[in-house]
Amino acid sequence: MCSGDEVDHLRRRVGELQARLVELEGAEKKRLQVENELRESQKLYRALIETAFAGIGITDVEENLTFANSALGDIMGYGVEELIGINLSRFVEGEEYNRYQELTEQRLQGLRNAYETRVRHKDGALINLLISASPLADEDGEFIGVLTVVFDITELRRAEEELERNKRAYTDQLEAMVRERTNQLEEAQAKLIQSAKLAAVGQLAAGVAHEINNPVGVLLMKLKFLLSVAERENLTQNTMATLDIAVEQAGRIAHIVQDLLNFSRTPTDRPQSLNINERIDSSLRLSRRLLTDRRIDLHLDLHEELPNVLGDPVEFEQVLINLLNNAVEAMADGGELYLASNAEAGQVVISLRDTGEGIEGEDLGSIFDPFFTTKNFGEGTGLGLSISYGIVQKMGGYIAVESEPGSGAVFHIKLPGEGA
Ligand SMILES: Nc1ncnc2c1ncn2[C@@H]1O[C@H](COP(=O)(O)OP(=O)(O)OP(=O)(O)O)[C@@H](O)[C@H]1O
Ligand SMILES: [Mg+2]
Repeated sequence: MCSGDEVDHLRRRVGELQARLVELEGAEKKRLQVENELRESQKLYRALIETAFAGIGITDVEENLTFANSALGDIMGYGVEELIGINLSRFVEGEEYNRYQELTEQRLQGLRNAYETRVRHKDGALINLLISASPLADEDGEFIGVLTVVFDITELRRAEEELERNKRAYTDQLEAMVRERTNQLEEAQAKLIQSAKLAAVGQLAAGVAHEINNPVGVLLMKLKFLLSVAERENLTQNTMATLDIAVEQAGRIAHIVQDLLNFSRTPTDRPQSLNINERIDSSLRLSRRLLTDRRIDLHLDLHEELPNVLGDPVEFEQVLINLLNNAVEAMADGGELYLASNAEAGQVVISLRDTGEGIEGEDLGSIFDPFFTTKNFGEGTGLGLSISYGIVQKMGGYIAVESEPGSGAVFHIKLPGEGA
């Protein structure tokens, strides 16, 4: 039997044990709750790491991979298990390797680094990665490895390169366009300068020609009168010859003055519809004798169906005769003359090619200038081409030359077809 004291003692003991049990139950509940929370948070982290777009890897102190998420496996072309244990240095090569070693050094000292690099994919291709690497430490601050986050930016870099290439191609194209426009502008400017020169000389010539025209006319008339008197008076051969020369030279002055007046004449008549082939025939009628005399063979190649052009028939023939005369004068020992007409995109193109002495490169830019001549004094005024230039320009066309000294010259005239 127990004494009353012993019973009390036992009752207290039971009470204490019951309280301890409640306490233990509480602690167990807490433990289970914490464990549950831990599991939940681990699940969350794993989900985060596994679904992350970035590749995530953890390396030990020797830079061997101890963890890799599936994105890292995808980026590098390996299965996740294959990656575990691989040393990072295996992916780096060439110049990148030196840099990799420098960065490893920094990480060992606890420094974080972010950089771009190129590494070898399992299939052998080089890929561009953006990497952020943070050193990991244990509770005592000891370095235990590196957490690396990796983005594959290969496509981005490729797109950038493509863009750069396109930009360059576009720039080249643009430069070519600018060059072409510049050439066109320079050509237009050259034409403008030429017409400005013509206009200035035209004005000057008109003034001088008007002044000289009448006195020259009077002079010529008086000389002819003197010549007729002299014929009657039976003067010496010598005096007669001198008078002849005087009449001839005065006639020449009158002719030049007339040329100048034509040159500066402002057109009053309406332009007519001209058939270029007919104009060519008519001009040749005047020059054929000259060509035969100078042993020049003419090759005609006239296109049958040319559009008509607008202009003054006499003026246009003057252009053709000027060009024919120049060609004849350039072929002192005979040669070949090719004269062709053609239709080209609504335009009429006339080409006149000779096998004469050709034009020196330095003269090419001046031959259309008024009074530019390479002929001996008294043999050329240097007005033929500038007058022709003015006439063609008035018809809305353009005249150009190509020539190599020693191998002849070719003149092209382009005229807009009527209604074009
Ligand atoms: N077919 C050609 N071959 C070689 N040189 C040429 C030819 N046509 C023109 N030239 C050159 O161009 C210059 C200018 O010609 P342009 O017809 O204006 O004057 P010119 O013939 O000298 O004199 P003008 O015609 O007034 O009598 C000539 O002096 C000559 O040097
Ligand atoms: Mg001439």
